[in-house]
Amino acid sequence: MSAGNERFSAEAAAWDSNPDVHRASASALQAILQFRPDLVEAKDKNDKNDNASADGLDVLEIGCGTGLLTLRLAPYVRSIVAVDAAQGMIDALQQKLAKAVEDDGKQGKQGSGRQHRASVTPVCLVLNDSEDPALPPADPPDASDTSSTAPRRKFDLVISHLVLHHIPDHPALLRALFGCLKPGGQLALTDFENFGPQARRFHAERRMAGVEFHGIEAALFAEQMRAAGFVDVLVQPAWEMTKAVERFPGEWNAGKPKGVELETMQFPFLLCRGTKP
Ligand SMILES: C[S@@+](CC[C@H](N)C(=O)[O-])C[C@H]1O[C@@H](n2cnc3c(N)ncnc32)[C@H](O)[C@@H]1O
Repeated sequence: MSAGNERFSAEAAAWDSNPDVHRASASALQAILQFRPDLVEAKDKNDKNDNASADGLDVLEIGCGTGLLTLRLAPYVRSIVAVDAAQGMIDALQQKLAKAVEDDGKQGKQGSGRQHRASVTPVCLVLNDSEDPALPPADPPDASDTSSTAPRRKFDLVISHLVLHHIPDHPALLRALFGCLKPGGQLALTDFENFGPQARRFHAERRMAGVEFHGIEAALFAEQMRAAGFVDVLVQPAWEMTKAVERFPGEWNAGKPKGVELETMQFPFLLCRGTKP
C-alpha cells in the first residue's frame, strides 16, 4: 500500500486534469442513484426546505481521492465521511471544501437560496477497523465517554469508486465495512471488471504502482461479500467506459503520444451492492 500511497499523494495536484476520472465519477453517481432512487427524492426535499440540518443518509466513502464522487453525491445525502490513504488527496479535497465555503460567503449564500450541501469530513486513513479512532464518534456522541475507544459512527451507505483494485485483501476490507454499517445499511462499490487478460490495459505501465488487481472478478467478489455477512448481494456490470490505452506495455512511459489517434478500449464497470441484515 505504501507505494500506492506515495503515488496518489504525488498525483493529487494534477488528478482532476484527467477527463477520464470526471467521466468515471459521473457514471458512478448515476449507478448509485439508480440503485438508491430515494437519494433523488431526498435531494429534492432538501432543496425545497433549504434546511442546513437536512434529512438523508450518512455515507462513508473509501478512497475518495480529490472528492470527485464525494462532491457529486453531497447534494443527495446528509453527511459524508470521506476516507483516503493518501494525505495529498485529502489535502486536495480540504482545499475544495474551503473554497466552496469561501465562494458561498462571497455570494452571500449562507441564508435562503443556498443549495443543500452535506457535511463532508475528509479523513486520511487506511480503513482496517470499523472502530478506528480516526473515524468520527457515534452520532450523537456519548458525552460521558471521552476515551479514544468510544464507539464510532455507523453509516447508512458505504461507497467507493475505482479503489477496490488497489486494496490487496478484499475479505478483510469487507469485514471492516460490515462493521461500519448500521443494520439495514448498504454497500455500493464501483470499479472496473476483470473480464480477462485485456483488463490489464486499463492502466498504462507507468501507473501500475499500487495496482493489486486488474479489475474485480464479479463472482469471486460476490462470494466474498456473502462470506462477510452481506445479504441481497448483486455484483453486476452497470456501465461501460471507453478509454485510451497503450498499444504495447510502456508505450506512454515518457508521456502520451501527441497528434496521433490513440487506440481505445471499452471497460465494463461493476456495481457491487449488498445489505447488512
Ligand atoms: C484510482 S484512485 C480513485 C480516487 C477517486 N475515488 C476517484 O475516482 O477520483 C484510488 C484512491 O484510493 C486510495 N486508496 C487506495 N487504497 C486505499 C485504502 N486501503 N484505504 C483508503 N484509500 C485507499 C488512493 O489513495 C487513491 O486516492
